[in-house]
Amino acid sequence: MNVLVTGGAGFIGSHLIGKIEKKHIVTVVDNGYTGDIIRMRTCDVNLIKKNVCDQKIVKQIVDEKPNVIVHLAAQTMVDSSIKDPVFDASENIMGTLNVLEAARQCGARVVFASTAAAYGDVLEDDLPVVESQELSPQSFYGLTKVGVEKYLELYHRHYGLDYVICRFANVYGERQGDTGEGGVISIFAKRIAAGKDITIYGDGTQTRDFVYAGDIASGICKAMTTENVNTVYNLSTQTETSLLDLVKIMGKVSGCDIVPKFGSVREGDIYRSMLSNQKAKEGLGWEPQVSLTDGLRRTMAYFQGN
Ligand SMILES: NC(=O)c1ccc[n+]([C@@H]2O[C@H](COP(=O)([O-])OP(=O)(O)OC[C@H]3O[C@@H](n4cnc5c(N)ncnc54)[C@H](O)[C@@H]3O)[C@@H](O)[C@H]2O)c1
Repeated sequence: MNVLVTGGAGFIGSHLIGKIEKKHIVTVVDNGYTGDIIRMRTCDVNLIKKNVCDQKIVKQIVDEKPNVIVHLAAQTMVDSSIKDPVFDASENIMGTLNVLEAARQCGARVVFASTAAAYGDVLEDDLPVVESQELSPQSFYGLTKVGVEKYLELYHRHYGLDYVICRFANVYGERQGDTGEGGVISIFAKRIAAGKDITIYGDGTQTRDFVYAGDIASGICKAMTTENVNTVYNLSTQTETSLLDLVKIMGKVSGCDIVPKFGSVREGDIYRSMLSNQKAKEGLGWEPQVSLTDGLRRTMAYFQGN
């Protein structure tokens, strides 16, 4: 199978490239905006160093004859999307439309990286959040992800394009940058590794659903080949972890004595977050394999080694 991964040089992309079976031919399209192009050059992939917003990319993708396109390339920063919604939309909507046009022309399936941010604030009674929950994004980043989900539905209806949407919870792991989504673990890990203190905004009882990037990569691989297409799956652990517990585990696996500082709650931060993964278990035959302790051990070892 020919697999084309946009944004393959990024954090999740780096885990995915390592997970895709060797029998497949892999092409990565990435402009190096936040990704590590140099690392990509050492991987067994064809690299097209291009911006997905450049219209010429449509023909270049079609020429690769992909059977599946995994679309990870995006502007991933929530704050930046609030500061500059036009740039966010040009990357996440217009760039994506080039990818969808290419998929339409060559009949490729699209696996799309969406996000828990699509749900926005959810009542605690609605946890764990299921895929049929109303979408109410609170940022332009969340909005453009929801927009692409709607485009995919219509590309399927009008052109028969097959798609699988994966809404990721808070992803963490080796090689994560601290600019994009879900960066609390990478921010803490880098500071702990550098012997610096960390600050929890709020009292630390707020919860998140932390899922290891290697597990996300396995979920994407399932989405590449599943027969249960043209639908959306949460990829999550369906487990809530408070920031206080997170810091405790990070201390244990890093061998550091961590005493966090506390700051005031940041505006717009949600209190509890957890996505149901029941549909992914049934439809994709996927469930996360790496415990938080194990994942944090790998993540801390990576940042302590760097
Ligand atoms: N990390 C998370 O917790 C998380 C959670 C939910 C969804 N996601 C989604 O998963 C995807 C991957 O996220 P990530 O954390 O690996 O981010 P990342 O920033 O590490 O990776 C994004 C990659 O896309 C590339 N890219 C960006 N704009 C591009 C463009 N216009 N043309 C070509 N390449 C471009 C970057 O260079 C980078 O390699 C994104 O779509 C993101 O929205 C991430």
